Amino acid sequence: MRACLCHPVPHTPVWFMRQAGRSLPEYRAARGAGSILEAIADPALAAELTLQPVRRYGVDGAVLFSDIVVPLHAVGFGVDVEPGRGPVVAQPVRSMADIRRLRPFEPDDDAPYVGEAARLVVRELGGRVPLIGFAGAPFTVASYLVEGGPSRTFAKVKSLMHGNRAAWDELVDRLAGMAIASLAAQVRAGATVVQVFDSWAGSLSPDEYARFALPATARVLAAVAELGVPSILFGVGTGELLGLMASAGPQMVGIDWRVPLDEARRRVGVGRAVQGNLDPAVCLAPWEVVATEARTVLARAGTAPGHVFNLGHGVLPETDPGVLSALVELVHAEGRAGVELP
Ligand code: CP3
Repeated sequence: MRACLCHPVPHTPVWFMRQAGRSLPEYRAARGAGSILEAIADPALAAELTLQPVRRYGVDGAVLFSDIVVPLHAVGFGVDVEPGRGPVVAQPVRSMADIRRLRPFEPDDDAPYVGEAARLVVRELGGRVPLIGFAGAPFTVASYLVEGGPSRTFAKVKSLMHGNRAAWDELVDRLAGMAIASLAAQVRAGATVVQVFDSWAGSLSPDEYARFALPATARVLAAVAELGVPSILFGVGTGELLGLMASAGPQMVGIDWRVPLDEARRRVGVGRAVQGNLDPAVCLAPWEVVATEARTVLARAGTAPGHVFNLGHGVLPETDPGVLSALVELVHAEGRAGVELP
């Protein structure tokens, strides 16, 4: 929490995106078969899956076990998450009529299990570790809705944004409203910081990002600021967008492995923290390599306050949990950004 606000810290904090998940044997044992959306809808199970990596790794943040498509699923839009593939939409959005099927999200009625899971986690953590709430940014969620599933080219979503501005604005406006409702519910349930995942923003040019993605994301971040909690804005392949992402108003910007953190800090600007940015694939290398690369990240983060160590994207399923445990120890022992030395 302190690092988010560029305040001094006792040690560099660390958590991992997708720290809960398939890399953990205890996750595979507890999760069972079935859709991930069913696991998410079981508050006791979702709370347990959130807590597993906190216990095992000693990370400084718990990220709620949920998914960016949960609000869509909860309003009955017809979305599922296919194992090994990701979100798929039965009737993708092609027109204004499809967009009108997207009704407002009422978290307490549509997805009460999210708040229940968050409250269970917060009670268990007893204030020792903050709970990180999250939502998908309007562009990234729209990309699944319009493409109908994961995409390489984002051709359909780009065609809609360029070809039908009125429909696009209506779509991202509704998705911003859903993200705001979802984040507010998570904060009411005890999340003290939130991350907005604009994972696929890197598919946009700076001009496209500024016109088609930034305004709705800025609206989400402004609503989070009103809730009184700091926010993190994250995307992949966003090197050319970092300044624009910072201008959207988060306290901290998530950086992937393509931009060294000293350069990322320059692009994000003073007064904003950075999060990242070890390449998740490096975690598959021998430990000496992981340690060297992690030390490079820490060196690039420098000594100014405002760094949270993370991977540049999610933990890969084949990662050895022992490597992540050792990484947490290394970051706690050697991180220097804003660290108050005794
Ligand atoms: O530990 C955590 O990070 C918390 C849980 C979390 C999940 N999804 C659980 C999950 C979070 C923060 C997300 C966010 C999410 N979901 C994003 C943004 C983050 C990112 O990776 O860029 C995106 C794009 C999604 C959509 C999504 N859901 C994808 C692309 C996939 C992967 C499909 C696959 O199987 O490879 C999912 C499924 C998913 N969500 C899994 C987990 C742990 C894995 C599948 C499972 O265990 O059933």
